[in-house]
Amino acid sequence: MRTDRQHACALDAADPLSNWRGRFVLPRDASGRELVYLCGHSLGAQPALAAEFVADVMRDWQSLGVEGFFAGRRPWLSYQERAAPTLAALAGADTQEVALMNTLTVNLHLLLVSFYRPAGRRTALLIERHAFPSDRYAAESQVRFHGLDPAHDLIELEPRPGESCLRTEDVVATIEREGPRIATILLPGVQYLTGQRLDVSAITAAGRRAGCTVGWDLAHAIGNVPLALHDAGVDFAVWCHYKYLNGGPGAPGGAFVHARHARRDDLPRFEGWWGNRPASRFQMQPRFEPQPGADGWQVSTPSIIALAPILASLEHFAAVGLATLRARSVALTGYLESLVAARLGDRVTLLTPTDADQRGAALSLRLECARDAARSVFDGLVDRGIVPDWREPGVIRAAPVPFYNSYEDAWRLVDALAAELGAP
Ligand SMILES: Cc1ncc(COP(=O)(O)O)c(C=O)c1O
Repeated sequence: MRTDRQHACALDAADPLSNWRGRFVLPRDASGRELVYLCGHSLGAQPALAAEFVADVMRDWQSLGVEGFFAGRRPWLSYQERAAPTLAALAGADTQEVALMNTLTVNLHLLLVSFYRPAGRRTALLIERHAFPSDRYAAESQVRFHGLDPAHDLIELEPRPGESCLRTEDVVATIEREGPRIATILLPGVQYLTGQRLDVSAITAAGRRAGCTVGWDLAHAIGNVPLALHDAGVDFAVWCHYKYLNGGPGAPGGAFVHARHARRDDLPRFEGWWGNRPASRFQMQPRFEPQPGADGWQVSTPSIIALAPILASLEHFAAVGLATLRARSVALTGYLESLVAARLGDRVTLLTPTDADQRGAALSLRLECARDAARSVFDGLVDRGIVPDWREPGVIRAAPVPFYNSYEDAWRLVDALAAELGAP
């Protein structure tokens, strides 16, 4: 392969999607130089349109006060509804199956309250050993909330010795073996540390065959890889909007509840007035009348200011479409992977699967040196204006995001790594 910078620039020039970079405000250093921002898997870059959408809310608040709930450019009472079609398309869901609310871990708790119902022999929650800490804390505390002991009722999947990723056949085998005692399965669509994309359909099908409820943490998957939650039969899912969906730091989260649960009144739920039907919400009656679908799990008045950047960002997703973005993403990440292999050789190990179907945009690189030496390589990258991120113990994650990263960004990352590692 060609490893020169001119080739990277030529690839950028030939791709019509390269123009989208201009609609994002990318971080700069103290001297005003644009950084090579490869951290969209952690916090997505700001769409320029986000500031306009926030300004609209501020203006409506100034001029309309409380009337802004009913009037103005985008009335606040139905603000989230504007997001639903695009969000549903990204999740592979019907609009009633998705809700924009709270934050990821809060949504996880709310949905586990409804869908993790240990009973009889079926008491366990299946997660992965390397689950994102917040998911683990939520899962363990839910097990304890039911008076159970995580030492017995939290089952953990882990990769085979010497491997970094889970194999679908091993996940399915565990579900088949332990199925009768598993109440609920909670796994990530894309694993945060390795970048592995799990097979949502196959694992959900295995879980349902075994009589378990199946939920997914899609923090690193939504807006990154195609999803088909409805067709896969997923019971519930949660995600955040601040990674690939560019909704800003701490942006409200998302939730999916399958249509087969939309009108169930036998599910326990932690209720709040925003989950009540809009038609009767302001009648202030004592009896809770849930909205059908995922919106029934809403609890509180949403922060409209916080929703505004999400709405702006979703306009971009609606305009381009995930299939187009994904095609560019596969090409960009494939290019980055080939450059790493060609220029860095065995100085780094790729933890992410090499099969494009089994990963999203992000690659995780383990540097083959002592932890402190690896950390100074990372610090050296930052000094050179490159922004990947660092995850203990010694993993550098970098995501060339198809909306705003370029082939040249990928080239600059690998060139800087080569310089820091003393590679030719
Ligand atoms: C995979 C995963 N799960 C859960 C979370 C926690 O999200 P929140 O802080 O919005 O609850 C994160 C945050 O980055 C994450 O990456």
